[in-house]
Amino acid sequence: MLSKRLSGIEESATIKMGHIAKKLQDEGNEVLNFSLGEPDFKTPEHICEAAKRALDLGYTHYVSSAGIEELREEIADKIREENKVDASMENVIVTPGAKQAIYELMMSVLDEGDEVILLDPAWVTFESAVKIAGGVPKWVKRLEEGLKYESLESEVSEKTKMIMINSPNNPVGYVLSDNELKETAKFAVEHDLLVLSDEIYEKIIYGRRHVSIASFDDMQARTVIINGFSKTYAMTGWRIGYAVAPAEIMKGMLKIQQHSVTCAPSIAQFAALTALKSSQDCVEEMVGQFKRRRDIIVKRLNEVGLRCLNPEGAFYAFVNTSNHGSDVEFTERLLKEAYIVVTPGSAFGPAGKDYVRFSFAASIEHILEGMERIEKMFS
Ligand SMILES: Cc1ncc(COP(=O)(O)O)c(C=O)c1O
Repeated sequence: MLSKRLSGIEESATIKMGHIAKKLQDEGNEVLNFSLGEPDFKTPEHICEAAKRALDLGYTHYVSSAGIEELREEIADKIREENKVDASMENVIVTPGAKQAIYELMMSVLDEGDEVILLDPAWVTFESAVKIAGGVPKWVKRLEEGLKYESLESEVSEKTKMIMINSPNNPVGYVLSDNELKETAKFAVEHDLLVLSDEIYEKIIYGRRHVSIASFDDMQARTVIINGFSKTYAMTGWRIGYAVAPAEIMKGMLKIQQHSVTCAPSIAQFAALTALKSSQDCVEEMVGQFKRRRDIIVKRLNEVGLRCLNPEGAFYAFVNTSNHGSDVEFTERLLKEAYIVVTPGSAFGPAGKDYVRFSFAASIEHILEGMERIEKMFS
């Protein structure tokens, strides 16, 4: 019954783990969920108020498919000022979540058999989005040791159309260095490739500076920036993302949007506008809390014997489990013996097979309790 397109596409591992956690919880178990890919904070009050105002003013109908103009203008301003990329409203499309922007991009630029380079491990949706659009993922390892130009070269062919990067990164938490970005930009120019740069965690960064690859020489014309409001403003359920793309690609994405979802939710767009235009103190506050949690979870994970790098961005700790069996075995053990839910690393690509991902979008008590349970499990 199902199309060939869907063969080899797995259910989203992160969403699946969330369901397992919920089921165990509903059965009365005291489950500690470390698989969440969303901030556990409430959406800031002033953003919710803006949505209520939009509702009262009757903005409850379809809006322009590319997004309301005020929001597209504001996003273009942000991209020019913060990311040093010369964008205008014509480059911006507002989508129902960054995920939808990624699909629209894939459907707009990939033909059957086109190859796309992914840095291994990568967020689960990257591989699926490429495959659903008929593309072929090609993995280049970028785990702990950094990105090598030669490794990129080894996966390129005449069919290569694009490279996808994500910095700060989910699931590893690295931030690509200026040198890695420079090498990637050089590689893209030399092989005439498009670059998808997923910058959704740009604000959730600890002591590093976010740099968009689109700001490098000759890169804007070949880069599509993906970003959104889910992580920065704790707005996952509002479904507002965006892409900043060369005008021709933006128009292609717009066609897919017009014929699939019509537009991103109207009320949520007004809320997003307020999020961008208001004080960013709420973001600073949330990032401060993420940093405290990061410091605690990394220290405790290493103390209990789970080796873990210090993530420089996003809210995930990617933990090496090679002393405790495969990622899947260790995930199952955590679930059965400690009622702890994590995501197995292989869900993110072949390089993840000796790792599990802990999300620290959870309270400090939750983190401490989880680490205690693991300590007991090992004793
Ligand atoms: C790297 C990355 N990009 C995009 C998204 C999805 O964002 P949105 O909620 O805007 O669809 C996620 C969510 O986990 C993510 O980790």
